[in-house]
Amino acid sequence: MEILFSINGKISSPEEALISASDRGFLYGDGVFETFHAYGRVIFRLPEHLRRLQRGASQLFFKPAPDLKRLVGWLRAAVATANFPEASVRLTLSRGCGPRGPSLKGPFVHTIVIMVTRHERPPQKRFEKGVRAIIGTVRRQEAGALSNLKTLNYLEQVLARREAEEAGADEALLLNNAGLLCEGSASNISLIRNGGLLIPDPVRSGALPGTAQLTAVEAARRLKFPVLYTVLSPWDAFGADEAFLSGSMREISPLVQIGVRTIASGRPGPLTQRILAEYRRIVERECKPFKF
Ligand SMILES: Cc1ncc(COP(=O)(O)O)c(C=O)c1O
Repeated sequence: MEILFSINGKISSPEEALISASDRGFLYGDGVFETFHAYGRVIFRLPEHLRRLQRGASQLFFKPAPDLKRLVGWLRAAVATANFPEASVRLTLSRGCGPRGPSLKGPFVHTIVIMVTRHERPPQKRFEKGVRAIIGTVRRQEAGALSNLKTLNYLEQVLARREAEEAGADEALLLNNAGLLCEGSASNISLIRNGGLLIPDPVRSGALPGTAQLTAVEAARRLKFPVLYTVLSPWDAFGADEAFLSGSMREISPLVQIGVRTIASGRPGPLTQRILAEYRRIVERECKPFKF
């Protein structure tokens, strides 16, 4: 079995994994989610992901707040049962079922779905050659109620990803309404200039604060590279010395082209490669006995 579910803590096969048609996650996209990377049986950066989930649930007025201790137990049980060498672990928290309509006057019974999927590591070539992105037409609303949250409303990302696929690119970059650099459809972008890391500030850009980007920042600081969260334009990306995309599942992907513009030499840069190597050292240290 390549996929395993846990519905409200009950391990289920794909055929048994059913939720109600009146679930508000389905009706209104009313919920939040996280995608964790499990290396062996260890979920990488679990507390950081749970903190983001908790912040999202709180901003969306989820009551009661998610019981994190119980969630961790369910996550660990699902990952151990699946027993994949590497897995993508998606946790969906929906407001669940309750009275009809968009009102938040409950009571609601939250639905928690965990989906563990075997992860095939992308070919090494992708890390060695780098990836291409386009700048999509979909804009992120930096001042929107849902910016910075990982909600079940994922249609902007779906539309952006379609544009990347149509263009034969790996990822679509989204600008925000001010035309500033924000993030990828399911990744964050970081630039390198003059030996330092430049990152679109999530608060000002509307980007999701990425857990993998946070690990990349930690890696960069260990390597003594300066890090600056700032406001960046697409032109900063075109003129960067190096750039990379980050995400829990993709880790660090060197970005070598945006649309028709090649970034620097068009090959993964040396600092990006050092950050990737340090990222993997952090994974190996925190996810023992996993080895790349
Ligand atoms: C819109 C968006 N931005 C950034 C990311 C990267 O987040 P993380 O590094 O926590 O996986 C994701 C992850 O799927 C995402 O959906």
